[in-house]
Amino acid sequence: MPNFLHKELLGAPATGVSIAGSKALLQLPCLARTYGVQFPTNEIVFLNSNGYDSTRGTRPSQLLGGPKMTLRLGDIAPDFTADTTDGTINFHEFLGDGWGVLFSHPKDFTPVCTTELGMVSKLKPEFEKRDTKVVGLSVDPIESHKAWTDDIEETQGHALNFPLIADPDRTVSDLYDMIHPNANDTLTVRSVFIISPQKQVKLIITYPASTGRNFDEILRVIDSLQLTANYSVATPVNWVDGEDVIIVPALSDEDAKTKFPKGWKALKPYLRVTPQPNK
Ligand code: BEZ
Repeated sequence: MPNFLHKELLGAPATGVSIAGSKALLQLPCLARTYGVQFPTNEIVFLNSNGYDSTRGTRPSQLLGGPKMTLRLGDIAPDFTADTTDGTINFHEFLGDGWGVLFSHPKDFTPVCTTELGMVSKLKPEFEKRDTKVVGLSVDPIESHKAWTDDIEETQGHALNFPLIADPDRTVSDLYDMIHPNANDTLTVRSVFIISPQKQVKLIITYPASTGRNFDEILRVIDSLQLTANYSVATPVNWVDGEDVIIVPALSDEDAKTKFPKGWKALKPYLRVTPQPNK
């Protein structure tokens, strides 16, 4: 059964919608306006198995008032436009052709969050080395973010140097499922998303509000993901930059010979260890 949603001209009186073969007449243009989504004309959008528009990152089920879909690895990171401490940004445009990290923190003027934002500001050159832009988020308003930045600089020794999204209406928090009502029904949890240059979600981790994150670990994962993207290698347990890596099982020995001129040690046919190729 084809899995698609047929959309027509925004502003048309009514639009036929077909999802996985079942048809319903819905006022989709009206819903689209309500949710602030601009649809191009006469377009067929193919949904992935989540019911998720993998070409643009919108969630038709949410548009249609259905249940929220879980964001999963490999999905396109939902795009959005939001107010930040650096002005309005369009997320995908802001990321450009590089990598991205989007992370949420529960609340402004709280101790753990203060230390995290100071640390991410300190680590900005490390993210830049990896062609990675960082964006933070909380549901507090922009005036609160701006008032808090002085405290971050004073107590952590690093001024905020990346955009912090103000999401008081929870648009972005909902899009990324950052509010877990059984933990707290108004504040975001500590979510982290790493996003590839193709805008695919490559990592999702969620921490409780009371545990500050280890951003060295986030950098380590970016290193690993970039090695996989560029050299067909995976990284073993507790790997850190500079240590041996593993040739991905999908690569035949024959192809590995040209890709890994330094050779490898085969502990098992599926476990081939080689020096880190970019060192
Ligand atoms: C904090 O950042 O310190 C924090 C925020 C929410 C709940 C607990 C701690």
